[in-house]
Amino acid sequence: MDSSLIIDKTIKYVQQSFQNAEGGHDWWHTHRVYVNAKKIADSEIDIDFEIVLLAALLHDIADSKFHNGDEEIGPETARKFLASEGFDNQKLEHVVSIIKNISFKGGNSKRTFNSKELDIVQDADRLDAIGAIGIARVFNFGGFKGNEIYNPEIKPNLEMTKEEYKKGRQPSINHFYEKLLLLKDLMNTKTGRQMAQERHEFMLKYLEQFYREVVE
Ligand code: ADP
Ligand code: NI
Repeated sequence: MDSSLIIDKTIKYVQQSFQNAEGGHDWWHTHRVYVNAKKIADSEIDIDFEIVLLAALLHDIADSKFHNGDEEIGPETARKFLASEGFDNQKLEHVVSIIKNISFKGGNSKRTFNSKELDIVQDADRLDAIGAIGIARVFNFGGFKGNEIYNPEIKPNLEMTKEEYKKGRQPSINHFYEKLLLLKDLMNTKTGRQMAQERHEFMLKYLEQFYREVVE
C-alpha cells in the first residue's frame, strides 16, 4: 500500500476515535508526538519511517487508564485497525510491539522489545510530558482525577510499584519528581536528549517560582 495513504487513513481514524477525549490525551497530544517523532526520525539512519509514524499516531489509541487498567486494549485496537487496512503483517507486529512498550508507568517496567523505531516514538511521547506542555498536562491530569495541586505533607515516592503509579492520586507537584524530572536522562536518541534539555530547564524554573509563591 502507498505509505501516505495508510498514514492519512490512520490520521482520520485516530482523530475520530479521540472525539470526546480528555485534554491531556487527545488528538492534539497525538499530533505533537507525531511531529516530534518525525523530527527525531529525520536525524536517525536505517529506520522504517512508516512504522515510526504509524506507531506515533496509534500509541494512545486506547489508554489503559481509561479502560480499567486493561493494557492489551491499546495494542489490540491498533492491531485490528491496521489488519482491517490490509497492512503488512510483519510491520503491523512491529507497530503493536512499540505501543505495548512505550509507556513509563513509574519507570520501573522493563521493555520486552527493542528497536530504533520504539526509541524514537518513546522519546517523542516523553517530550510531550515535559516542558510547558508537560506542566499543562500534569495539572490537567490532576484536575481530571480530583487530585491536590500541592500538599507538603505528602512527599514524592520514587519507589512506587506500577500499580501505585497507575492509581495516580498523589498531589500533582509530586509527579514532577516521580516522573517529569527523570525523563531527560531516560531519552534514547541524541535529538530527543537535545530537545529535552530546554524543556527540563523550563520546568526547573517553573518549580523555583512555584516554591517562591508557596507560603508554608
Ligand atoms: P505513561 O503512560 O507514559 O506513564 P501517562 O499516560 O500516565 O504516561 O501520562 C499522561 C500524562 O498525564 C503525562 O503528561 C503525565 O505526566 C500525566 N500524569 C500521569 N500520571 C500523573 C499523576 N499521577 N499526576 C499528574 N499527572 C500525571
Ligand atoms: Ni502519549
